[in-house]
Amino acid sequence: MSTTRSDSVPAFPAGGFTMLAPMQDMTTLPFMRMLARRGAPDFFVTEFLRVNATSQIDDSVAECAEKTLPETGTPLLVQLIGEDVPALVRVADAVLSRYEKTVAGIDINLGCPMPKIFRKNVGGGLLRDLPKVSEILAALRRVCDEHGKLFTIKCRLGFDDASPFPRLLEIARENRADLIAVHGRTVRGLYRAPVDYAAIADSVKKSPCPVVANGEISSVGKARSVLAQTCCAGLMCGRHAVRNPWIFRCLREMFAGTPDEEIFKPKLGDVFEYIRELETCVADPTVSAARIAARMKKFLNFIGTGIDPEGAFLHAVRRAGTPTEIFRISEKFLLAGTLAEKEFPPEPFSGLCARPNCE
Ligand SMILES: Cc1cc2nc3c(=O)[nH]c(=O)nc-3n(C[C@H](O)[C@H](O)[C@H](O)COP(=O)(O)O)c2cc1C
Repeated sequence: MSTTRSDSVPAFPAGGFTMLAPMQDMTTLPFMRMLARRGAPDFFVTEFLRVNATSQIDDSVAECAEKTLPETGTPLLVQLIGEDVPALVRVADAVLSRYEKTVAGIDINLGCPMPKIFRKNVGGGLLRDLPKVSEILAALRRVCDEHGKLFTIKCRLGFDDASPFPRLLEIARENRADLIAVHGRTVRGLYRAPVDYAAIADSVKKSPCPVVANGEISSVGKARSVLAQTCCAGLMCGRHAVRNPWIFRCLREMFAGTPDEEIFKPKLGDVFEYIRELETCVADPTVSAARIAARMKKFLNFIGTGIDPEGAFLHAVRRAGTPTEIFRISEKFLLAGTLAEKEFPPEPFSGLCARPNCE
């Protein structure tokens, strides 16, 4: 067993740090590159890699594992989801062997709330079986130790309620987790229940490792409030980084002590350029323009919550059939007259929902 950390394992910055939350089909290498051009977080995490007895490293995760660090300079954790311990060990070992120079460690998903996932007792489903979580964490800790890599956890507070959370934190401590990212909701709370920042604050007190707060960190103002409430070591942003890809730059400036009035404020013209770049993030010469537009809409659903309070941009863009139509609508809402110089609101407008069917 290697007891020393590999050279590719970074330290967690002491003055506060940021992470991009993993998001299926969204946090791909092109998206990470695009974010890095606007100010990268301190850590990227891949979307989850499903692990079972026969699974292999899929192409999207493999591309991230190979290229994220060299191309963006930002360390990457590869997230696994599964409950088959030998399979998790096999895949973690394969990732860390194959991408020894470019992957900082392995993260385990203990929070996914999608029924098709949790019904298989993986992701959030594992929060109903803490002895199993203990077995998984011990096994993955061993593999990460063998490779001198980080072992991190991303979790929710529990399944139906937060009663498993204290024991979950003990299990994380027993298995020397290097970091815990806590999404302060239960699995039943999906994506809209209020985030329990008091529970995150409690985990900061009880955990020897850095705790990263996750859930609705939408702006510098909200980040300051979450830091004050939780004393967490770091902040993880998901949907709000899709809406506002400059958020990590702004949070870095905040951690460096920049006064609020000097922190970068994107304009609507910047948002237009971002939307143009999104087309290249989802580009694929083998699929139709309608398919590319559908892929862009996954991102536009979040961006649109910050463009106009009535949701007119969202309404129009959801009906667009091609990227050309999306750009025409975007020009109207972001560039017409003097709009390009107008500030992009730091928070989404209340009452607008990015994903009405799942949020
Ligand atoms: C479209 C989408 C896909 C997600 N996929 C994952 C995933 O693969 N792994 C994971 O741990 N969490 C996943 N999440 C949850 C996010 O990582 C994050 O915990 C959640 O969105 C709350 O943070 P936010 O308020 O900053 O978005 C996903 C969330 C969304 C919206």
